[in-house]
Amino acid sequence: MQTIAVDGPAGAGKSTIVKRVAKKLNILYCDTGAIYRAVARYLLENGYQNFLELASEKQMTVLDEIKIEVTYEEGIQIVILNDQKLTDDLLRTEQISNFTSEINQNQNIKNLGNQIFRTIAKRYNVIMEGRDITSVVLPDATLKVYLTASVEERAKRRFLQLQERGILDKTLDELIGLTKERDDRDMHREVAPLIIVEDAVQIDSTYMSEEEVAEKIVEAYHQKTN
Ligand code: DC
Repeated sequence: MQTIAVDGPAGAGKSTIVKRVAKKLNILYCDTGAIYRAVARYLLENGYQNFLELASEKQMTVLDEIKIEVTYEEGIQIVILNDQKLTDDLLRTEQISNFTSEINQNQNIKNLGNQIFRTIAKRYNVIMEGRDITSVVLPDATLKVYLTASVEERAKRRFLQLQERGILDKTLDELIGLTKERDDRDMHREVAPLIIVEDAVQIDSTYMSEEEVAEKIVEAYHQKTN
């Protein structure tokens, strides 16, 4: 199977870009953050705000309560958690964003995710995005990409996204602060931190359009496969 692994910080445009590339190459995309968000939502809804403080055995028992399936409807990824379809608006609140970042410091959470993601990559040609895809999940991917943009630009994009969805509850400055906090946690955690692997193609999307970024990835992919 051919795989494209894409990592980068929050708001770099990964999810939009991988959808575009997937369409161009006629392959699937996998937004791994959405799957971790579904886990975070389950934990918050079921009174496990203290998940990280539980003993490892208890954490595994809690995670056993979770059944996750990933399907695609007209090319769109749908996460099904214990038979409930989770749409984007249920997964993209700031509360879930922050809790998802917190629980991703935990090895039991990562084990659950890695197992799901590797199963998808074994079955399908896929472009997969997250924080540890190039480094941990698919270290042998056909192409590895590190996608970033400036903190200010990424916070601005998040601001506009939340505004568009009618769930904006933060100022731009607050979002810049939260973006920095999340970067710090994602990049400096002990378990599978966000890093730039040696053989990644690095793209800074601050001044690039989505189409330009997508084209650059497609080009790099063709170079690898031809
Ligand atoms: O990509 P996203 O914003 O939906 O991800 C939500 C959080 O999950 C983010 O703080 C980083 C974390 N994450 C991770 O640690 N590893 C992944 N493969 C995907 C997401």
